[in-house]
Amino acid sequence: MVSKFLWRLGGWLGLPLLAYGIAVAVAHPAPPHPFIKKLPTLPLRIAHRGGAGIWPENTRYALERAARLGVDMVELDTHASADGVLVVMHDATVDRTTNGTGLIRQKTLAELKTLDAGYRWTDDDGRSFPFRGQGITVPTLEEIFQTLPQMPMIIEIKQAEPSIVDALCGLIRRYGRQEDVIIGSFHVDVLREMRQRCPEVATSAHTNEVRLFLALNFLRLTKVYSPAPLAFQVPTRQDNIEIVTPSFVRSAHERGMQIHTWTVNDPAEMEYLLSIGVDGIITDRPDRFMELLVRSQKANLG
Ligand code: G3P
Ligand code: CA
Repeated sequence: MVSKFLWRLGGWLGLPLLAYGIAVAVAHPAPPHPFIKKLPTLPLRIAHRGGAGIWPENTRYALERAARLGVDMVELDTHASADGVLVVMHDATVDRTTNGTGLIRQKTLAELKTLDAGYRWTDDDGRSFPFRGQGITVPTLEEIFQTLPQMPMIIEIKQAEPSIVDALCGLIRRYGRQEDVIIGSFHVDVLREMRQRCPEVATSAHTNEVRLFLALNFLRLTKVYSPAPLAFQVPTRQDNIEIVTPSFVRSAHERGMQIHTWTVNDPAEMEYLLSIGVDGIITDRPDRFMELLVRSQKANLG
């Protein structure tokens, strides 16, 4: 009787275990990509929108100064103008950051270039606007490639319709930036299209991939995951769920993936994330992050 039960139990457990063993055997970690190989030492200091907390976001002014500050990478967002030129802006409209109004995709590049992209930046709740009238304009992505020819970049595709994937892929290829950029997007279909049309360029995980990995990690099944993306670029928490936990970081590293967290401006949180091994911090305040790293280097030496 007992032996019959044990045989049955063995049968029930055996099949799932066999399936798990096969899934683990066929799974592979993220294949090595030149983008990762070329990166400087970790942790990566990544200026979010070029350092939106210290300069007008997504402008050449900000991105150049972030580079001078010594960041390892810049993050920027892109849309296309009415005449199909890729411009570096976060929102679909120009209202929040410039002195204009309306949709980017309904304005030509010439029209966008008349706007003051430093107009609305303030760090004292609107008492002063130090970048107004300083000649800061909306940059094209091409101008940013020309201005920062060596800088690794996270390029976030904000515009889903009409697709800007071909225009972006063409620009990356024309400037030979295939090994220097990683593409992210909140639009799942856009990232899928990017991987199809521009397979040599690295991408980060889309929302569904993050959800899947969180579930696999909860079930201790991440060894079956073969990643298409090279990195998770994620907030520390979302929908009341803590995403960047020590176990999430460990499992992602086991699958050959990096973790870059956004948007972290508080030095205490930066310190915690470094302590659990995140690879990069995307911050509006790269100055604070750099100071923190210098302080902890001094403390380690002392
Ligand atoms: O890199 C991702 C992060 O930039 C997403 O947030 O809204 O600033 O584009 P957002
Ligand atoms: Ca972004």
